[in-house]
Amino acid sequence: MEARPYTIRDVRDADHDRVCAVVVAAFGQEDEAMLVHRLWDAGAVTIERLAVVDDEIVGYCAFSPVTCTPKLVGPLFGLAPVAVRPDHQRTGLGSAMIKDGLKACRELGARMIAVLGDPKYYGRFGFEPASEKNMSWAAQDAGDAFRVMIDDENHWGDIKTNETRLVHFHPAFDALS
Ligand SMILES: CC(C)(COP(=O)(O)OP(=O)(O)OC[C@H]1O[C@@H](n2cnc3c(N)ncnc32)[C@H](O)[C@@H]1OP(=O)(O)O)[C@@H](O)C(=O)NCCC(=O)NCCS
Repeated sequence: MEARPYTIRDVRDADHDRVCAVVVAAFGQEDEAMLVHRLWDAGAVTIERLAVVDDEIVGYCAFSPVTCTPKLVGPLFGLAPVAVRPDHQRTGLGSAMIKDGLKACRELGARMIAVLGDPKYYGRFGFEPASEKNMSWAAQDAGDAFRVMIDDENHWGDIKTNETRLVHFHPAFDALS
């Protein structure tokens, strides 16, 4: 599909059903939409963005708090899910939502943002292999697919540890893995 004019904006309660429909369409199953519901119910979505084209919601992404062992003082976020309706994929909407959400995370003073997904796709936003920062996804070793973005300049000295630091997504994710 050709790129069309779009708007990226925050989510309102009235958007929830349409957001879930987009998430189901993007993943081809309901699991991720149920995850989004669990995150909303837990009040665990710190930042979320949606993409609107021709007055229709066609994309969604969410950032929720993550924790680390050994402990890392936050704010720490995980990006998931990211979903664009299939008929609007590869038109830049995913990138636009992620970039806007990352900017909002930085404005909140984010110290670390984690993501699990295609290394090539997320690498373009500056997510680096977590292993390079001695970090790993707590649920399993996801290799290069588990990536983090760290506010190096201000914090890397405090964050550094010899022990592998495990990153835990919000408990709402447990039913997914
Ligand atoms: C992954 C997803 C969110 C990307 O959103 P999008 O709006 O289609 O992507 P964008 O238009 O911003 O970026 C397009 C670029 O990313 C690449 N890309 C898109 N999806 C990709 C994927 N799954 N893996 C690798 N590269 C991908 C494209 O090749 C394209 O590269 P180019 O700019 O060099 O041509 C979207 O395809 C989607 O909803 N997929 C299904 C759900 C999913 O897998 N979500 C991610 C896991 S949480």
